[in-house]
Amino acid sequence: VKHIIITGGAGFIGSHLCDRFLKEGYAVTAVDNFLTGRAENINHINDPNFSFWQLNVANPDLPLVELDFKLLREYGLHGVLHFACPASPVDFERFPREILEVDSIGTLAAIDIAKHHSARLILASTSEVYGDPQLHPQKENYWGNVNTIGPRACYDEAKRFAEAAVSSEQRWGGLNAGIVRIFNTYGPRMRLNDGRVVPNLCGQGLRGEAFTIHGDGFQTRSFCYVDDLVDGVFKLFESNVQIPVNIGNPQERSIRDFADWVNILTRGKGRDRSRVYHPPREDDPKQRCPDISRAKSLLGWEPKVGLEEGLSKTIAYFKKEMMTNVTH
Ligand SMILES: NC(=O)c1ccc[n+]([C@@H]2O[C@H](COP(=O)([O-])OP(=O)(O)OC[C@H]3O[C@@H](n4cnc5c(N)ncnc54)[C@H](O)[C@@H]3O)[C@@H](O)[C@H]2O)c1
Repeated sequence: VKHIIITGGAGFIGSHLCDRFLKEGYAVTAVDNFLTGRAENINHINDPNFSFWQLNVANPDLPLVELDFKLLREYGLHGVLHFACPASPVDFERFPREILEVDSIGTLAAIDIAKHHSARLILASTSEVYGDPQLHPQKENYWGNVNTIGPRACYDEAKRFAEAAVSSEQRWGGLNAGIVRIFNTYGPRMRLNDGRVVPNLCGQGLRGEAFTIHGDGFQTRSFCYVDDLVDGVFKLFESNVQIPVNIGNPQERSIRDFADWVNILTRGKGRDRSRVYHPPREDDPKQRCPDISRAKSLLGWEPKVGLEEGLSKTIAYFKKEMMTNVTH
């Protein structure tokens, strides 16, 4: 059995990765300190080849390489997926220090344990490394336009550090690694209150409130359903690709379009909910859209889940969440 460690395994994306790798026959050790993740995301897992450790991967006194993971003793270590890191803009304000630590100390710890066992490392990077891009859509060879002292700097620059750390070890340390640059992803296990447009609109739709739209609503976003993203990460892990790969959905949609779909899926056709327009957000990236030709050609990957299907599943999840929160 091949054993992998997933950092941030109780988070939104990390928990879906646990499900997928277990389904594919891997043994999985998930580690997480519950900073932004939660036990509910992994409580459903009932598999002898799954083990969970609550710990801070950025604790310099307890480096991953020195920990006595049960499944590692049994199976050795085949891979490390470093996904620990808060990712929502509301977290940049709450946890800047934690973000800087998990992407620096935490990434070095992930590199060390991967190297020690000659395991393949996948680094969860982000489209934010492109900053406010001057090139559309973004290709992996674009170096980005990032503000080192802006409100997103703790995240953007920390991820750029993480990429630099991984690529240095690839170049000079013999590390086998892949870097996935993740573009906006949505789906079940996102937090309703994480401040991003999909959970915002879904919450408003389900509560029967008016939709809040910043700007005129014609600005576009491209969102990838989590199962598609996880499939891309899985293919990257199983490949030998050593260069960064964008994974995201290149189909751009206007915010108005999203609101229309959420309206239909939460209330039914023809029963239109009102929209309230606010001034545009100052630090909003104007536009970001992945060029996925590299993922297509090297991994044979492209997104498959359409917006209606993905949103339906996400809304069903949020609905259940809201009901549980009311009854408890
Ligand atoms: N969701 C997206 O759209 C998106 C986009 C680009 C990149 N990413 C990247 O994907 C990864 C996962 O993001 P997500 O959306 O699932 O966010 P998330 O907040 O749901 O998951 C992150 C997880 O990491 C854990 N964590 C944070 N610091 C830790 C530490 N020091 N030690 C152990 N665990 C720690 C959190 O508790 C949480 O469970 C992140 O690296 C993020 O930067 C996500």
